[in-house]
Amino acid sequence: MNVLVIGGTGFISTRLVRILLERGDHVSLFTRGRHRWQEHAWAMPELLVGDRTVPSDLARSAHGRTFDAVFDMIAYRQEESEAAARIFRGKVGRFIHCSTVSVYMVAHDVQCPVTEDQDRRPLMKSGDRNPFGMGYGIAKRGCEEALWRAHDERLFPVSMLRPTFVSGPGDPAGRDFFWIERILDGSPLLVPGPGEFEFQQVYVEDVARMFAAITERSTSVGKAYNVAGDEIFTLNGYLRALGDLLGRTPELLHVDQDSFDGQPFSSSTEGDVFPFNTRRPAVFGLERIRKDLGYRSTPFREWMAGTILWWKTRRMHSIGYERRHEELAFLRTMKVTAT
Ligand SMILES: NC(=O)c1ccc[n+]([C@@H]2O[C@H](COP(=O)([O-])OP(=O)(O)OC[C@H]3O[C@@H](n4cnc5c(N)ncnc54)[C@H](OP(=O)(O)O)[C@@H]3O)[C@@H](O)[C@H]2O)c1
Repeated sequence: MNVLVIGGTGFISTRLVRILLERGDHVSLFTRGRHRWQEHAWAMPELLVGDRTVPSDLARSAHGRTFDAVFDMIAYRQEESEAAARIFRGKVGRFIHCSTVSVYMVAHDVQCPVTEDQDRRPLMKSGDRNPFGMGYGIAKRGCEEALWRAHDERLFPVSMLRPTFVSGPGDPAGRDFFWIERILDGSPLLVPGPGEFEFQQVYVEDVARMFAAITERSTSVGKAYNVAGDEIFTLNGYLRALGDLLGRTPELLHVDQDSFDGQPFSSSTEGDVFPFNTRRPAVFGLERIRKDLGYRSTPFREWMAGTILWWKTRRMHSIGYERRHEELAFLRTMKVTAT
């Protein structure tokens, strides 16, 4: 297959490109060239340089070419997907978009397990503290909308994946590392709320594998797929499972969600802090991806063991760790519930 990946040297996309090269595809990457391709020397993708937020850059790279498949790994705004639809009109066998479960979680009224048809429920009114990202989810809905339109107008056939929280070695969001570092320091863990809402993570290699699988199954044309781990955790269960892998028994101290939200350390401009505090159940239906793409997830214990090893070799702190002393001071002044 002759394939273009928009992105290609990022967290998910590097793994996708490796799978495509291993199966013998001719792969072109479109990136700004800030991150180098550092994988196998035996198979190099073609490198196309440009900024995807500048439509003329992408148009120049695609000029006069056709592709069996285009994977758009980094569309974050409707205009970007609209530009892609114009540029690749009639030139692509399949256009595969990297979406997110946030397209559901910007609505209140979703029923768990959330099925793929719940993607257009009315937006929640106040989403200031939406852990799935209100602006992000709305913008990703816009990308999807532009692409479903392109599909309906027969510009090219479209498929999408909607991953939940993606984890694994090298995760730039460092969500697991947030908790790993705190478990390893031996002090109690501040858990916002009851820690009893169910959620899923997904292993990055499983996501990449499913992106590649989409191009091998014609049943996937015109469909979106949830991709999430088969294992469902609560935050309490996840922290105990992590502790188990780390050989520690973390002390979980629960603080009322509203009191927590009033604290300066409860959010960060650097990224996600206190991750997986989903504030409501966030479990996604996997029937469609199992049936069409033969999906089974890698067991949590297996991939998390490798992820922990990767984080242990890093000489850095997790996001927000500089305020760890404030978390602990807060716990000393608050009414807490231990579990
Ligand atoms: N992480 C999660 O938990 C999660 C969950 C659900 C969905 N997602 C989705 O996953 C995708 C992110 O995947 P990823 O981690 O593989 O990619 P990524 O790390 O977000 O993107 C990095 C890749 O894109 C290139 N890039 C970034 N900005 C660019 C631009 N303006 N023009 C051209 N190239 C650009 C980077 O290379 P250069 O820097 O060299 O340009 C690199 O190859 C997004 O669509 C996101 O919505 C993520």
